[in-house]
Amino acid sequence: MAASTSIGLFLFVGFLVARTKAGPIDVKTKGAKGDGVANDAEAIMTAWKEACDSPNPCQVVIPPGTYMVSSPLTLSGPCKNPIEINANGATLKAPSDPTGIKGPGWIMFKNVDKMTLSGGIFDGQGQEAWKTNNAAKTGKCDLPYNFRFDMVKASFIRGITSMNSKHFHMNFLGCDGTTVEKVTIEAPAESLNTDGMHIGRTNGLNITDCTIKTGDDCVSIGDGSSNIHIEKIKCGPGHGISIGSLGKYPDEAPIDGIFIKGCTMTGTDNGLRIKTWPGSPPGKAVNMHFDDVQMENVGNPILIDQEYCPYVGCKPETNSSKVKIADVSFKGIRGTSSTKAAIRLLCSKDIPCEKVELADIDLKYEGKEGAGAISECKNVKPMTTGKIIPEACAAPVEPFKEKGGEADSSS
Ligand SMILES: *[C@@H]1O[C@H](CO)[C@@H](O)[C@H](O)[C@H]1NC(C)=O
Ligand SMILES: *[C@@H]1O[C@H](CO)[C@@H](O)[C@H](O)[C@H]1NC(C)=O
Repeated sequence: MAASTSIGLFLFVGFLVARTKAGPIDVKTKGAKGDGVANDAEAIMTAWKEACDSPNPCQVVIPPGTYMVSSPLTLSGPCKNPIEINANGATLKAPSDPTGIKGPGWIMFKNVDKMTLSGGIFDGQGQEAWKTNNAAKTGKCDLPYNFRFDMVKASFIRGITSMNSKHFHMNFLGCDGTTVEKVTIEAPAESLNTDGMHIGRTNGLNITDCTIKTGDDCVSIGDGSSNIHIEKIKCGPGHGISIGSLGKYPDEAPIDGIFIKGCTMTGTDNGLRIKTWPGSPPGKAVNMHFDDVQMENVGNPILIDQEYCPYVGCKPETNSSKVKIADVSFKGIRGTSSTKAAIRLLCSKDIPCEKVELADIDLKYEGKEGAGAISECKNVKPMTTGKIIPEACAAPVEPFKEKGGEADSSS
């Protein structure tokens, strides 16, 4: 009796020790080959499921090597405990065939709390897919995103690289309290609809120390986003950092609380912009602040565009945007503009912008001190502090045509 009790106790203690030491799960022990040929998706998902069900915090390791991931990875929670995926030194590759990945995403995280994703290169191999993209004509693009983070909360995404995504690189939907840091995004300037990071209906997302070189917006922020802090981003090539477009659909949720700070933009088509569609249903975008941004040869460095219409058929003059823009500041925005109009504040005729502040602006055009650049305004009277070069709202408004062909970014 005594012997069996102590054996039982021994086993029980042993079990406890085993539990607290729940070691990392190497995807190779689940059948991943890492030979750059075999599809390792199933093995990675098996490792995730086991880690997610683990009674202790658990790590999935994707060791150095090249992994073909030829079908979508769906990594869902809720997990029993914090979970980590470490792909340091590994490269994951999507099939280059544009139809190789069915569905909206290649690597998809869903409903997970306290997740850490670190290291690794995620290569969407989009070169063939970009040639098939006809969103400029149809306004639609069915290619998969490299990453989807849906309902990812209190999590960290750090030190990863997203390359040559077929469509957007990263989409954040319904995320909360999540931090993205030291992430690198790379695709050629001419790759279509390869937005770096798109954020929608997300409350609480911090993005810092990232480098984004891509063919569309570096960061775009859709409706229903609040408490978004974006700091120390290097953007370019790309289309810049953008809030919107807003007001395309009925019942969009407001934007409230976007803080963009300490960024550098190089050679981007646009700088910092807020865009809303003419003839839109009512909406609201407030409390948006841009601070300390260096511009190098950037088109429209400061732009509020409530006449955003990349397609034909909008009539902003007779049918203006109903999205209310208020409480916006641009402070410490310096450098060079590649367009004569360095500041454009084109607000809605029906609902003029309110509380727009410009402070310490110094933007040159063609290297000319002040005189070269101009500033144009409609339906707004900005408050100014410090030096504003070019002088705020001094020039008449010239007709302005947006480059066409942006795919719907709210999907
Ligand atoms: C995000 O950044 C803001 C401002 O720096 C900070 O107050 C907040 O705590 C940060 N959130 C997270 C989840 O780290
Ligand atoms: C205004 O624009 C909206 C959206 O484009 C459209 O549905 C509506 O018919 C337009 N109204 C007028 C009076 O042109």
